[in-house]
Amino acid sequence: MMASHIVKPDTRNCKRPRELEPQMPDSPQLSSLGKSDSSFLESSGLFYKESLEKDLNGDMSKEINLMLSTYAKILSTMESTHQKKATFGKRERLPCIAPLLTTVEETPQMVSARVRGHFPKWLSGYLLRIGPGKFEFGKDKYNHWFDGMALLHQFRIEKGTVTYRSKFLQSDTYKANSVHDRIVISEFGTLALPDPCKNVFERFMSKFELPAITDNTNVNYVRYKGDYYVSTETNFMNKVDIKTLEKTEKVDWSKFIAVNGATAHPHYDPDGTAYNMGNSYGLHGSCYNIIRVPPENVDLGETIHGAQVICSIASAERMKPSYYHSFGMTRNYIIFIEQPLKMNLWKIVTSRIRGKAFSSGISWEPQYNTRFHVVDKHTGQLLPGMYYSKPFVTFHQINAFEDQGCVVIDLCCQDDGRSLEVYQLQNLRKAGEGLDQILFIYLTERAREHKQGEQQREKEKQALCSIGSLLWGSIPGPWDHDLSQRQMLNQLNHPGTP
Ligand SMILES: [Fe+2]
Repeated sequence: MMASHIVKPDTRNCKRPRELEPQMPDSPQLSSLGKSDSSFLESSGLFYKESLEKDLNGDMSKEINLMLSTYAKILSTMESTHQKKATFGKRERLPCIAPLLTTVEETPQMVSARVRGHFPKWLSGYLLRIGPGKFEFGKDKYNHWFDGMALLHQFRIEKGTVTYRSKFLQSDTYKANSVHDRIVISEFGTLALPDPCKNVFERFMSKFELPAITDNTNVNYVRYKGDYYVSTETNFMNKVDIKTLEKTEKVDWSKFIAVNGATAHPHYDPDGTAYNMGNSYGLHGSCYNIIRVPPENVDLGETIHGAQVICSIASAERMKPSYYHSFGMTRNYIIFIEQPLKMNLWKIVTSRIRGKAFSSGISWEPQYNTRFHVVDKHTGQLLPGMYYSKPFVTFHQINAFEDQGCVVIDLCCQDDGRSLEVYQLQNLRKAGEGLDQILFIYLTERAREHKQGEQQREKEKQALCSIGSLLWGSIPGPWDHDLSQRQMLNQLNHPGTP
């Protein structure tokens, strides 16, 4: 949830050098190196031994036996080393993180930060971070980690010294909650209750009013046309002065383009052109839209003027678009992953009447595969063909780049999409056995479901949370290339086969 943005030097859009890439084998064949070598060890080795013994006698045969035995040991060691690297360590007890999930005071006046080690004298600028910092108003408490009020952090680095300050974002949501000393605007996992001062009838009727959309933009600092904003995933962003941490303007995406929101993780071209994605909901169904924002303001006072939707991708299901938190971008392509973490629009629209939070409308539906859409970001054309993988959920796509005619994506993914439930504050604040139990239940349920699933054997090989790399075939180009050469951890199927 916490996100950072360092202002100087400007290193946006830099791609991770290859030497920092995860140590992946060069081909899918190598990904099963341990197994192949093991087979060789157990079968091929014996074959050679028997053949040689027929032709050789005496000392020479013993030497060869010794050599083969030594080779077998080496391979065995390599295999066990390989396995050790692939096995996630079992932690008996996770540290309690409750202190990170409690309300804190803001520090509006700059204070000196204690520095361990030293910063180079030439390093100068702001390290900006944002995240939830207030979790209750009066007697009302938020339920979910994503709900807390946005707290802006600023680390100013100059001539080897660091100062710090923080301020709560003065969003309309924050101000309204503060004035009423209760939660009056719903957040992702918390439904605002009707005003207790209203009579029973008024409270009942208020359930049918259109709910106010939160502008508690607590997810990330983003930059458009040289200006800084803090963003969440609703239609609102707040423009901020990064020197004072004051909000200067509230911006509504839907006033500029036909979207109902946008992610908090845009990507940037070297010239400052920004790309983002946002959903739109209409009579014709739900669409995932790719947004382009020009690099510079034309006139004074502009915000995201000139933003355009360059591509709309229809949701596989009209009333159940997928939830996504980020997307991938290379020099030429946008990669959108339509995952089976579904937003049931009917449930979301009726959540207030049903007395449920927005999050209740999101469900993990692993009966669907994960779909990959690739869009030429220059033309806005959705490339023909479709890639599918087994179901997984991803929040953060780490990196994407083009390599030898292929698109490569690094992402964090999980086999089970119900981790949003784990992020309930009552779960995250547990300690000791309580925290272990939450994760134990999560793990146990997941294991049970995997045993029942059609892809049981594949899924048991996967770690709970893996940082994977997806490789797939040449883009652009015909779709009949041999994908088997580039399939990796997530076992992408051939295009067109769900
Ligand atoms: Fe994020």
